[in-house]
Amino acid sequence: MTQELTSPSPAPQAPGTGRGPGWWRDAVIYQVYVRSFADSDGDGIGDLRGARERLPYLKDLGVDAVWLTPFYASPQADGGYDVADYRAVDPLFGTLQDADDLIRTAHDLGLRVIVDIVPNHTSDRHPWFQDPELSRQRYLFRPGKGESGELPPNDWESVFGGPAWTRTDRGDWYLHLFAPEQPDLNWDNPEVHTEFEAIMRFWLDLGVDGFRVDVAHGMIKAPGLPDIGHGAQAQLIGAQVLPFFDQDGVHAIHRAWRRLLDGYGDAHGRQVIGVAEAWAPTAERLALYVRPDELHQAFNFQFLNAPWQSDALRSVIDASLAATASVGAPTTWVLSNHDVVRHTTRLGGSLARARAAILLMLALPGSAYLYQGEELGLPEVTDLPDEVRQDPAFFRGGRATGAAGPGTDTESAPDGVAAAGGQDGFRDGCRVPLPWSGELPPYGFGPGGSWLPQPADWGGLTVAAQTGDAASTLELYRAALDLRRRLPGLGDGPMTWAPAPDGVLAFTRPGLLCTVNTLGHDVELPAPGTPLLSSAPVTVDDATGRLPGDSCTWWAI
Ligand code: NOJ
Repeated sequence: MTQELTSPSPAPQAPGTGRGPGWWRDAVIYQVYVRSFADSDGDGIGDLRGARERLPYLKDLGVDAVWLTPFYASPQADGGYDVADYRAVDPLFGTLQDADDLIRTAHDLGLRVIVDIVPNHTSDRHPWFQDPELSRQRYLFRPGKGESGELPPNDWESVFGGPAWTRTDRGDWYLHLFAPEQPDLNWDNPEVHTEFEAIMRFWLDLGVDGFRVDVAHGMIKAPGLPDIGHGAQAQLIGAQVLPFFDQDGVHAIHRAWRRLLDGYGDAHGRQVIGVAEAWAPTAERLALYVRPDELHQAFNFQFLNAPWQSDALRSVIDASLAATASVGAPTTWVLSNHDVVRHTTRLGGSLARARAAILLMLALPGSAYLYQGEELGLPEVTDLPDEVRQDPAFFRGGRATGAAGPGTDTESAPDGVAAAGGQDGFRDGCRVPLPWSGELPPYGFGPGGSWLPQPADWGGLTVAAQTGDAASTLELYRAALDLRRRLPGLGDGPMTWAPAPDGVLAFTRPGLLCTVNTLGHDVELPAPGTPLLSSAPVTVDDATGRLPGDSCTWWAI
C-alpha cells in the first residue's frame, strides 16, 4: 500500500465546503457502470484503469461528478451488489491503488467521485455470513413453519423471483430480499451500524465525495416479519409500504449517516453526500429521505417512470418539486440507470423523445444523474441470447413471478429491477459495454472483447463517430451541459409554468424558457424568444415558432 492512499486528494473547489449551499444541489452526475464502461486489460470487463483513462471524456462532456457502481471484492452474483469485502477492490476491476489513482485523477480534473455502498445485504461469501455463530447475530435467520420447519418463515418474495428465504443445512432459514447469495443484514444489531460507519470512513479517507446508498429503503423490516397475505408482491413495491421496504425505521439510519457525513466534512473542509436509491410509494414519502438531517439526494423514480405525456409529466414534476421543497431539498432527476430499460427504448423506441426528455430534465431545477451511454442515444439491446445473460433475476425465474418481469411496462414501479426490466424483464440489455470508436465490436471498449455482445450496427453510435457532428446526441448533451453551466441559476433557481397549447409544456427558468412538444406532430406557437438549443430543428417565421413533434427547445428570453 502506498503512502498516498492515506492522504486523500483535494476535492474540486466549489461553493460551499462544510454545510453551506451544496455543490450537489444542482450537480450533473454521470453513472459509470464500471464493468461496461472501458476495459484496460483486454479481459472484456470494464475496470478502474479503463474508467480513469476515460475521465477526460467526462470532463469534456461537462458533468460535475461520477458515480461508480460497486467495484468491491465480490463473487459477482448480482453485478457486484453482493459484496464480500467492502474495503477491497475485486481483481476483476483492479486494485485499491487503481481506485486511489482514479479518485486523484478525477479531482485533478475537477470531477467529484461518488461510490456505491450496499448496506441491506452482503454476499453469502462475506466472512460474517461464513461464520456460523456470527451469521446468526448479524443476518436475519428464523425457524421455518410447518411440522418440521420445512416451510419459509413468511410469505415474502424475492425481488428477483421465488421465496425471499433459503433454508440452511442446520434447518433454519435466512432472509434475502434479492438473490440467495445476498443475505439481508440484521440492522437491529449495533455491530452492523458500527461496521458500515467504519466502511464509509474508509472510503472518505480515500477521498470519495459521497455514497450512493443501495436499497436505502430496505434495511429495517416490520417487527415480527409479518406475512403480506397475497402474491404478486413485486408489483406492490413502490406502490405501497410493505413490511420489508420503506419502513419508518430506516430514517434513523440515514440520520446517523448524515451526522457522520457532516462531521467528516466539517473536520476535513469537504462536503460529502449521500444519495438514496429508495423506492417509495409517493413523492411525499420519498422526500422523507432528504429531510435536512437525512441524505442529500434521492433518485426520483416517479419521473423516470412517467409516460411521455404532457399532463403526466407536469403532475410528476409538480409533485416532486413540492415534496422536496417542503423539506428544503432539491429534486434529483434521472431517466436511465443500470436497472431499467434505456430511455430511448422505454419512450417508445424514439430517439427524438429521448433527446427531448433529456433537454427537459436538464432544464428542471435540481440535480440530474446521467447513465453511461445515454449521451450516445444508445437503445436497450433486446436480442441478447440466453447463454450470455448474467442478471440473477433471469436464473431465478423472475419472469414467471413478475418480480423482474413486466418487460417495458413501466406502470408498476417495483425496485427498479422489476419496474422497467428490459428483454423479458431482465437488465442485461442496458448493461452492454459502451462503443467508443471503430466500425466493429468491441468498438474501442478495450483491447479484448466485451462481456456482453454489442450490436453489429453500433458503429454510427460511437463516441468517435458522434464527436463534432452537431446533429448528434453526444453534441446535444455537450451543448446542454455547457449552457447549464453558463446560465447562472439554471440549476437551483426558480421555475414557473407558462401557458402552452395542449400536449406542450412550457416553463421559464433563469435565462430561458423551455418548451416540450410531447405530441407526434408539429405545433405552432408565438415564438417566446430566440432558440438557444433544440433537440430537433425548430423554425421561427414572423414571430411564430414551429416546434417539431417530440422535441424540446430552450429559448433565450
Ligand atoms: C439496486 C441495484 O441498483 C441493483 O442493481 C441491485 O440488483 C439491487 N439494488 C440489489 O442490490
